[in-house]
Amino acid sequence: MIVAEVADFREAARRKVPHFLFEYIDGGSYQQVTLNRNLEDLSDVILEQRVLRDVSQLDPSIRLFGQRLSLPLVLAPVGLAGLNARRGEVQAARAAAAAGVPLCLSTVSACTIEEVAAGSGTAPWFQLYMLRDRGFVSAMLERAKSANCPALVFTVDLPVPGARYRDRRSGLTGANGVTGTVRRVAQAMARPGWCWDVGLLGRPLTLGNVAGVLGANTPLSDFLGWLADNFDPSANWDDLEWVRSQWEGPLIVKGILHPDDARNAVSAGADAIVVSNHGGRQLDGALSAVKALPGIVDAVGASTRIFADGGVRSGLDILRYRSLGADVVLAGRPWVWALGAEGERGVTRMIAMFEAELRVAMALTGAQSI
Ligand code: FNR
Repeated sequence: MIVAEVADFREAARRKVPHFLFEYIDGGSYQQVTLNRNLEDLSDVILEQRVLRDVSQLDPSIRLFGQRLSLPLVLAPVGLAGLNARRGEVQAARAAAAAGVPLCLSTVSACTIEEVAAGSGTAPWFQLYMLRDRGFVSAMLERAKSANCPALVFTVDLPVPGARYRDRRSGLTGANGVTGTVRRVAQAMARPGWCWDVGLLGRPLTLGNVAGVLGANTPLSDFLGWLADNFDPSANWDDLEWVRSQWEGPLIVKGILHPDDARNAVSAGADAIVVSNHGGRQLDGALSAVKALPGIVDAVGASTRIFADGGVRSGLDILRYRSLGADVVLAGRPWVWALGAEGERGVTRMIAMFEAELRVAMALTGAQSI
């Protein structure tokens, strides 16, 4: 199929990866109200057309924490992303490094921090969830430091997982034991290319960073059960201070939607925050990130870097978030769809599409620099 924009990558991925995996990536929580709001509210942001401003030279790059980003984009942490292609996060990290944008590796990625750093030649940013076992969290932070991860993203909007009904219907959750396995295997068999490339040649299919405590061959369903049991719902602001004391580099707190929480994060030592509702996968009914953004910029924008995510599907959307005060935007599903559709090449093309769209949007709004 012809891939002209990110929506085409979504369709291409739907045809290539097993149903349960596509549903997991694509879905939101409950009735997906917030997921849809992220998209709708972003498309409602009106861009101002300006003319005759000499837009022959455009610079969409920014500097962030001593790094140059070729555009104000970070590939967001997405759990299980690496199952969409053979050793998927390594492929995506290579594409991101070549394009000059960071990839943030999830705690629950398929590939380990070390594999991604070695395989792509660039240490990824690392995303941390607060697990009950603080010793294990400390050890993960040590691994991120040893791998020279340039920034830590501490995600705080998942004390408990939101209910994702599409995962129940697909059989990814709720149907453990033989029934669940049979359903997932049947869905995988319907995608023979994926079975060969990922299921067989891409082994081990584990959650790399946490596999040490699980045993490398534990089935997927056990991982998800383990995560539900091990994420720490008692996490609080003291824990953020504890993370701050363990990490000297840039610390970015992800999952903020309220100005007071933004102020607290900055007081606890965050260098940046991500205005985010986890891509509409947690509290359904919550504000879209784009609606939450201006209030948070007013509250802490003068003293801290503001990132935002949710619903970015084009370079125009990057400009929309920038226009409301975000320094950097993250995109989650787009890179994972591109990875599922075409592997490393897909992620390269997806970033190039975003850049091309962003450049045209800059030209037509009369902005020589981002
Ligand atoms: C996520 N997100 C996420 N965030 C995080 O901090 N750690 C994680 O492991 C995950 N896992 C994850 C899985 C899947 C399938 C999705 C779609 C999202 C949230 C992610 O980082 C980001 O906030 C959203 O994806 C942004 O919304 P868009 O760009 O997908 O619309």
